[in-house]
Amino acid sequence: MPLRSLVRRSLEGMPGGRRFVAAYRAWNGTNGPKPLPYYHPDALREEWRRGYGASEPFHQVLGSMGHEAWPPKMDRYMVLDGLLRSALALPGDLAECGVYKGGTARLIAGTRTASGVRKRLFLLDTFKGMPEPTAGLDSTWRAGDLGDVDIEEVKQFLVDLPDIVFLPGLFSDTLLQLAESKFCFVHVDADLYTSVRECCEFFWPRMVNGGVVVFDDYGFPNCPGAKKAIDEYFARIAEKPVYLPTAQAFAVKHSTNG
Ligand SMILES: C[S@@+](CC[C@H](N)C(=O)[O-])C[C@H]1O[C@@H](n2cnc3c(N)ncnc32)[C@H](O)[C@@H]1O
Repeated sequence: MPLRSLVRRSLEGMPGGRRFVAAYRAWNGTNGPKPLPYYHPDALREEWRRGYGASEPFHQVLGSMGHEAWPPKMDRYMVLDGLLRSALALPGDLAECGVYKGGTARLIAGTRTASGVRKRLFLLDTFKGMPEPTAGLDSTWRAGDLGDVDIEEVKQFLVDLPDIVFLPGLFSDTLLQLAESKFCFVHVDADLYTSVRECCEFFWPRMVNGGVVVFDDYGFPNCPGAKKAIDEYFARIAEKPVYLPTAQAFAVKHSTNG
């Protein structure tokens, strides 16, 4: 079976997958055929895993993620791991906005701990599913999507990792508790226009020099709101994000003013 059909099949089997494929088809149809906006790691997974530079600690952390180590996200885990390591020696805390069941939170906390670094990791999510999407911008999402989560189970999943602070609720409420903090690394995996915009506006001024923000959803056709929020925010400032073929984007803070 051609790789493209395999990808379509595996995407359709995921939660929300049919909507994703429909959104991709609509996007693909509008301006003529395009390659998939990100490549599918399944076929190359083992080679990538073997070849990944800082392999041993990464594979141990990955192993501890259990069922949350989702194979189609393997390439994104590597990006996350590498960019996190690049920022761990800097001052400032860590945060993840969009935690769901704690998969990437476990990767971030595990890599941090395996590196012998003591820093707090703040985890922000409703832990009750997606908030209200913006009409016309986040059309593949519905309020309550990804609501099959229980914060107590997420806490249990991360129980062996120190210095984790859960901030349940809407970002618009919980971010206020971090107003005095500085950050060296932030993972934004929130999919929606308003949510990603709030993260850009809140975190960028609080990043230390050299600090890194990773956006999970920049290139996904089912997250056009996330792309728009990132494009709008970085159009206004000197630093520009780097867009990756994994669909992620990341930006490095080069100054401490704004
Ligand atoms: C794609 S999931 C995160 C996936 C997670 N990083 C992982 O590795 O599995 C997106 C999450 O963002 C959360 N979210 C989106 N917008 C939010 C907001 N404004 N406030 C709080 N949580 C939000 C949703 O509740 C959802 O759990």
